[in-house]
Amino acid sequence: MAPCDQGPHVEACGSCCGGPALILGATGYIGRFVAEACLDSGRKTCILVRPGNACPARAAAVDALRHKGAIVIEDGVDSVETAIRAHGVEVVISVMGGANILDQLLLIDAIRAAGTVKRFLPSEFGHDVDRAQPVGAGLAFYEEKRRVRRAAEASGVAYTYICCNSIAGWPYFDNKHPSEVPPPLDRFQIYGDGGVRAFFVDGSDIGKFTIKAAYDARCANKIVHFRPACNLLSTNEMASLWETKIGRTLPRVALSEDDLLTLAQENIIPASIVASLTHDIFINGCQTNFCMDAGSDIEISALYPDVPFRTVDECFDAYAEGLRLLETEEAEENNSNAPAVDRLTPACA
Ligand SMILES: NC(=O)c1ccc[n+]([C@@H]2O[C@H](COP(=O)([O-])OP(=O)(O)OC[C@H]3O[C@@H](n4cnc5c(N)ncnc54)[C@H](OP(=O)(O)O)[C@@H]3O)[C@@H](O)[C@H]2O)c1
Repeated sequence: MAPCDQGPHVEACGSCCGGPALILGATGYIGRFVAEACLDSGRKTCILVRPGNACPARAAAVDALRHKGAIVIEDGVDSVETAIRAHGVEVVISVMGGANILDQLLLIDAIRAAGTVKRFLPSEFGHDVDRAQPVGAGLAFYEEKRRVRRAAEASGVAYTYICCNSIAGWPYFDNKHPSEVPPPLDRFQIYGDGGVRAFFVDGSDIGKFTIKAAYDARCANKIVHFRPACNLLSTNEMASLWETKIGRTLPRVALSEDDLLTLAQENIIPASIVASLTHDIFINGCQTNFCMDAGSDIEISALYPDVPFRTVDECFDAYAEGLRLLETEEAEENNSNAPAVDRLTPACA
């Protein structure tokens, strides 16, 4: 196990680093970053996985986390309450996906009944859902997250809401996991006038700072905002940055406020949710259009001023490098498939 990296603000909960964590949703898009960061922090990390899903990618994700030291708990073998108690879980982090947000109401009952949990982080990992006002499908989604917040607050267990804003990558309006795809190579879709800014946070930083907040007494009953000043960018600025990485300019096509609203109202899930949140971010400016409340809000950089965020510039370098490697591989494959005479023709001929 890696040594504890938490610093002096851990809660007084029985060990220098804080007690065991249970992560639900560890095989998901955001959940993997959180589970890996928890393991990297050296804490005992349990992951609750649902049985009966034979998807190879998911099985590989579980194996990789087990290999790193995660204790895998099969949901349904014992009750969640029993599992929490058996492992002495003190921190529960839910990273359940959008379709399962209300499953957390039963989880909160289990947490309360188990009696060992000192901190609960519900599946947030986006915007402040009490402040933001997306339209259509996005609003219905936020209403579910708000219900979970109210249940967490009523449970008596300390909570932390992680508002990590946008994940670093091109903010595709039609992809709920946008960082899995490199930025465009054909054209940019620019939302509105392209001038509204958002905070972009790399997945590994979402994981790392979530774990810090989960074990930090200063984050108990707080909304924790990830607002790295270095990564506050508009879509116009993102486009220009990507152009410097690929060495050419691309056409910019405007997607208007009305276009996004129409998609958001269609109620096709999850596409309409993504369009609705894209509208809220890049038209309404929901990540920056409010003042922080000193009583309930904390900015993570204020807690860890010396811990850097990975910059969007670095992320775009990595995408560009990945594309270069792919091109080289494709070229090599094409060469090896070409007729022998072509392969032997000198390039200068
Ligand atoms: N800021 C951003 O840019 C951003 C982007 C995407 C998501 N998010 C937010 O991040 C959170 C997670 O979303 P995601 O897209 O990462 O989810 P995801 O990829 O769909 O993964 C969901 C995970 O939750 C697990 N799960 C679902 N219901 C469960 C239950 N009842 N018990 C135990 N595990 C359960 C799934 O397990 P199985 O493998 O069994 O299905 C899976 O591991 C959401 O709140 C979402 O809104 C934020």
